[in-house]
Amino acid sequence: MIKVTIRGVRLEDLDRVAEIEAVCFPAAEAAPRKSFKERITTFPEYFLVAETDDLIGLINGCATNSPVIYDELFHNTSLHIPAGENLAVFGLDVIPAYRKQGIAAQLMHHFIQIAKNTGRKRVILTCKHELVHYYESFGYRNNGISGSTHGGSQWFDMTLVL
Ligand SMILES: CC(C)(COP(=O)(O)OP(=O)(O)OC[C@H]1O[C@@H](n2cnc3c(N)ncnc32)[C@H](O)[C@@H]1OP(=O)(O)O)[C@@H](O)C(=O)NCCC(=O)NCCS
Repeated sequence: MIKVTIRGVRLEDLDRVAEIEAVCFPAAEAAPRKSFKERITTFPEYFLVAETDDLIGLINGCATNSPVIYDELFHNTSLHIPAGENLAVFGLDVIPAYRKQGIAAQLMHHFIQIAKNTGRKRVILTCKHELVHYYESFGYRNNGISGSTHGGSQWFDMTLVL
């Protein structure tokens, strides 16, 4: 089994992180390098990477009092509320060559642990229909179609109550 380290992001990871996102999401949905730079400099504590010889995956998010993700949250780092009751997941990515080995699951479990350690009430995220069952396997509940139209797609609101 492949040895993967999950660790906090560092500013020097910026280029690789943007590269991973571009491989994992269509252009309309991928966060741009500029957003990653702002997130890494503003709230790096909610940004984890998976590393083998190189970075192969990531999970990132912020804290909010909103019970659901809304589109502006993706673009505006000033909406991060450090003491917010929920952690929101912006993105979970693993590059294709390393998928189906539980690496995203490791990233998610670490992220949920951070939420627990920092006393949050929930972890929230949006996902496409085909991934609803995947997130349900971590205990997330499907709250139906999201108000988010991020990238022009349909999303589902998922909530993990801690
Ligand atoms: C979604 C994504 C992050 C999953 O990454 P991953 O590392 O393959 O995820 P996991 O390995 O934890 O689980 C994926 C599947 O592999 C299965 N799996 C996990 N370990 C496995 C193993 N050792 N052998 C075989 N299958 C395994 C899981 O059960 C899961 O199956 P399911 O889809 O039937 O539930 C990845 O496909 C990706 O980056 N996609 C593009 C971006 C994206 O859509 N992100 C989600 C945004 S909401």
